[in-house]
Amino acid sequence: MSAQRRPDSHWRERARELGERIPPGFRLGVATAAFQIEGATHEGGRGESVWDAFTHQRGRILDGTTADVATDHYHRLSEDVRLMADLGVDSYRFSLSWPRIQPGGRGGGNREGIAFYDRLIDELLAAGIRPMATLYHWDTPLELSEGWLSRDTARRFADYAFLAAEAFGDRVDSWVTINEPATVTLNGYALGLHAPGHALLFDALPAAHHQLLGHGLAVGALRDAGVSGRIGITNVHSPVEPATDREEDVMFAALFDVIHNRIFADPVLLGRYPEAPEPFRELFGVFDAVDPDDLAVISAPLDFYGLNYYFPSRIAAGAGAGDSPDGEAAAMRSLPFHLEEWPEFGRTGFGWPIAPGYLGVAIAELRDRYADALPPVVITEGGASFPTALAEDARPDEPVDDVARIEYLGDHLVAALDAVAPDGAASGVDLQGYHVWSLLDNFEWAAGYTQRFGIVHVDFDTQDRTPKRSYGWLREVIASRT
Ligand code: FCB
Repeated sequence: MSAQRRPDSHWRERARELGERIPPGFRLGVATAAFQIEGATHEGGRGESVWDAFTHQRGRILDGTTADVATDHYHRLSEDVRLMADLGVDSYRFSLSWPRIQPGGRGGGNREGIAFYDRLIDELLAAGIRPMATLYHWDTPLELSEGWLSRDTARRFADYAFLAAEAFGDRVDSWVTINEPATVTLNGYALGLHAPGHALLFDALPAAHHQLLGHGLAVGALRDAGVSGRIGITNVHSPVEPATDREEDVMFAALFDVIHNRIFADPVLLGRYPEAPEPFRELFGVFDAVDPDDLAVISAPLDFYGLNYYFPSRIAAGAGAGDSPDGEAAAMRSLPFHLEEWPEFGRTGFGWPIAPGYLGVAIAELRDRYADALPPVVITEGGASFPTALAEDARPDEPVDDVARIEYLGDHLVAALDAVAPDGAASGVDLQGYHVWSLLDNFEWAAGYTQRFGIVHVDFDTQDRTPKRSYGWLREVIASRT
């Protein structure tokens, strides 16, 4: 029977079964990011970010849109907190906009910006929801013109972290320093798909090091400011497999694993950069010159490790044909390897393979690679886009019928719980939570508004919010916990 045709009772039963499996203390939450939802880019004293500039450049965003309004969360904060309160989540992961708190990336805090997040945090706490604040979800102040290519940006970032800690350190439950430095480095500096739009290929690696240094310095700033919450980083992990067992494919798969996963996790958890496979060592020469003191800063102990998981990567030697799921950049086609399809898996609206088992693999890899150095793990993002429009005749209270998202979320949660079970592939890992990406349909970076990830539908003309069926399902999972 197709997923769409299953009766309501089927989904209710699944929600109950899953709810009963959620261990005590495991936090279920939803996630968003400032630039993707807030809008109000010129209000409240907010400065410009690299993403403002990027979205206003011709040809950068698939549907030619900007995030000037996004989902207007800046003006609808209370409504959005209410949605979360009704859902019953334990935790809300949001990001603080650096240019809203510290316009220009220097100097004192912007009172209005701080007041906005004060209100958000207070409303969350009043609703019994733990605030998880990400300091950096990609919106570098535009005035820091070299961005992460400059070492100074790491110091600026620590300065901003201290401001945020002083303002919110008494109430934030969990701090995430940086979201997905791999994506910033690869898409923003190596391939030119994201802001600031550089296509430097391997010359982008200093941006990786400076983000990691910024992370370490920010951890120090948060600790110095005496924040009461826990501190971590969020990395996106994609288990990598070679397309065949041919030597070349295996070698490029190992290279991609280093580029995508290990560069960002090894220094944080082990205090050293990974070794690249032999033929590529030279490309990573910049890491050989890194000061050991930097690595000591970068590997400061963390209270949790944030894991984002979306899909695994299958790698083959040779340049790609040029039609990757999210619109491949010319720079990508110049690489000597490419991402291959996963024909055995279904796909999301983005074309991403739906492979819940690999979430278990990602967690198991963390345990196998980092062993005792791995702190408790919190899944800080997981979710899928599906083209779920509101039916023409939908009543405002009638959910969008996104059963594909329900299956996706259910299968991924089960895969994660199975992996860390006593007989699971990642047994021994202290897995503490899962945050659904995303609460709302929102501005999906280079894809503009073409990818809907929300469990709440947003009409981008009226800004009306309509909970989808997945929202009701998640509420049932949460309510069924014992
Ligand atoms: C992640 C980002 C998040 C969102 C999802 C779909 O890589 O952290 O902002 O765009 O992908």
